Amino acid sequence: MNKPILDPCCGGRMFWFDKKNPHVLFCDNREFAGNLCDDRNFEVKPDMILDFTALPFDDESFWHIVFDPPHVMNAGENSWMAKKYGCIPKDWKPYIKAGFDECWRVLKTHGTLIFKWGERQITPGQIIKAIGRAPLYGQKERKNGNTTWLAFMKLPQEEDFSLPKKSATPAAFANGGHDGHPSL
Ligand SMILES: C[S@@+](CC[C@H](N)C(=O)[O-])C[C@H]1O[C@@H](n2cnc3c(N)ncnc32)[C@H](O)[C@@H]1O
Repeated sequence: MNKPILDPCCGGRMFWFDKKNPHVLFCDNREFAGNLCDDRNFEVKPDMILDFTALPFDDESFWHIVFDPPHVMNAGENSWMAKKYGCIPKDWKPYIKAGFDECWRVLKTHGTLIFKWGERQITPGQIIKAIGRAPLYGQKERKNGNTTWLAFMKLPQEEDFSLPKKSATPAAFANGGHDGHPSL
């Protein structure tokens, strides 16, 4: 079965309502089984081991992708944070951009991509600038460790837009375009 949905860095599949959804290809760059700081079991058991910066799929393979990469650079190697979420390199911009670009490549035209970002060390504005593509809309949850959800759609090339040069700064997203818009 060709699965229509890709989760290229699924970790413990915490945000999935159905962690065994048969329509989703769950992937990660590692397997893990062990205990976290509260002694609860934690498991990373992907369907496929891969690197999201070099996805082993043809162009335009999936209708929906959820991209939730690690969001901290320097959690201690054995910290629960590193065990649960992994880390990004200090030089995170090319890493995150390569991951996003690969997701974009394997996304079908008119497919949708959700980018989840946890703002601890890097703001969503910095992320948007690094990937060079404007989300359609987004929402920032302040209560849960400043998690931001950003929604994208891959439009046909002639209708596509990347971030316009002038607005390619976090400031362009800082105060939102209308009342209630998340401050990214
Ligand atoms: C923030 S966690 C994902 C949490 C997950 N969405 C959940 O609901 O539990 C990020 C995951 O990305 C994985 N990861 C880090 N670098 C990766 C890479 N280059 N390719 C694939 N997965 C990677 C980590 O192992 C980690 O499990």
